[in-house]
Amino acid sequence: MRAVVVEQWGGAENLVEREVERPEPGLGEVLVRVHAAGVNPVDWKTRASGALIEWGAVPVVGWDVSGTVEAVGPGVGVFQVGDDVFGMPLFPRQAGGYAEYVVAPARHLAPKPAGLSHVEAAALPLAALTAWQALVDAAHVRPGERVLVHAAAGGVGHLAVQIAKARGAYVIGTASAAKHDVVRQLGADEVVDYRSVRFEDVVGDIDVVLDGLGGETAERSLKVLRAGGRLITLPGPDDVPAVHDGVRATWVLVEPDHLGLREIAALVERGALRPVVETVLPLEEAAKAHEIGEQGRTTGKIVLTVA
Ligand SMILES: NC(=O)c1ccc[n+]([C@@H]2O[C@H](COP(=O)([O-])OP(=O)(O)OC[C@H]3O[C@@H](n4cnc5c(N)ncnc54)[C@H](OP(=O)(O)O)[C@@H]3O)[C@@H](O)[C@H]2O)c1
Repeated sequence: MRAVVVEQWGGAENLVEREVERPEPGLGEVLVRVHAAGVNPVDWKTRASGALIEWGAVPVVGWDVSGTVEAVGPGVGVFQVGDDVFGMPLFPRQAGGYAEYVVAPARHLAPKPAGLSHVEAAALPLAALTAWQALVDAAHVRPGERVLVHAAAGGVGHLAVQIAKARGAYVIGTASAAKHDVVRQLGADEVVDYRSVRFEDVVGDIDVVLDGLGGETAERSLKVLRAGGRLITLPGPDDVPAVHDGVRATWVLVEPDHLGLREIAALVERGALRPVVETVLPLEEAAKAHEIGEQGRTTGKIVLTVA
C-alpha cells in the first residue's frame, strides 16, 4: 500500500511516499481503507524529533482517519466489512494514518457521523476528543459556567467553542481580528483580539480555561479564574503553571475513546458541532500540509485525501 513515511526525524521534506506492507487485522482489530487523514500539530511535532511516540518498524505519522472497514479480525462484534468509521486509533503508539490502510482496535473507532464527508469526519477525532476529554471529562463544564477558549479558531479551539456551547456554557474565545467572524459563527458569545489587548485585562470570573498555547498564556490565564476554576493546558506537562489556592491546573493528553467519538458524532448529527476544513491536499502533499500547519495560523483543520 502507499504510505507517507518519515525517512528521518527532522523537517517536512523528510515525509516521503513509499510502498509499504499492508497491515493485517489481529484479534479484536479492524482493517480500515482510509479515505481521508486529518493533520494535527502532534504529527509535525513527532516528525521533527520522533519523541514521545512508540513507533513501528517503519515510522508513519498521523492518527486521524475516516474510511471504510475492509476486513475484521476475530472477535470483532461492533463493525462489519463496508461500515464507514472514523477515529484516532492507538495514540500515543503509531497508527500510521498517512496511508491507504490502517489497523485499529475496533473500539478505537466509531461509526462515521451521517451527513459528514470522509474529509470532514477525518478533521474531527483527535481535536474533538481533546476538546471533549478536556472540557467534559476533566473540567466537568456545567451549564451557565464561563469558559475561555484560547486559540479559538484553531483545530482544537474551534471544536471546543462548539462543545462548550453545547454543554450550556457562556464561551469567550481568543483569536486575531480576521478570525472573529468565524469564531462567533461557531457560537462564541465574545471574542477577544489577543493581539490588541491583554486578555486578562478584559476577561474575568472564568470557570474553565482551555489553553492550546501554554507558556506565558497558561500563567496569565490563572489571573482570570474565579475560585473553583480549572485550567486545562494542552501543549505539554511543562506548561502547567504553579497554582494559587482554590483553582486547579492540569495537562490532559488525548486518548482513543469509542464513547467520546459517539458523543461527538451525536453532536454533529443534532447540528451542534461541525468541523471547519480550511485546506484539503492529496496524501502525496503531506509535506506541504505540514509546512502550512507549522505556521500556526490555521483556521480549523487541514485534511489529506487518500482514496
Ligand atoms: N494534550 C493533547 O492531547 C493535545 C491534543 C491536541 C492538541 N494539542 C496541542 O494543542 C495545541 C493547539 O493544537 P491545535 O490543533 O488547535 O493547533 P492549530 O490548529 O495549529 O492552532 C492554530 C491557531 O492558533 C491560533 N493562535 C496562535 N497564537 C495564538 C495566541 N497567542 N492567542 C490566540 N490564538 C492563537 C491561530 O490563530 P491566529 O492566526 O488568530 O493567531 C490559529 O488559528 C498544540 O500545541 C497541540 O500540539 C495537545
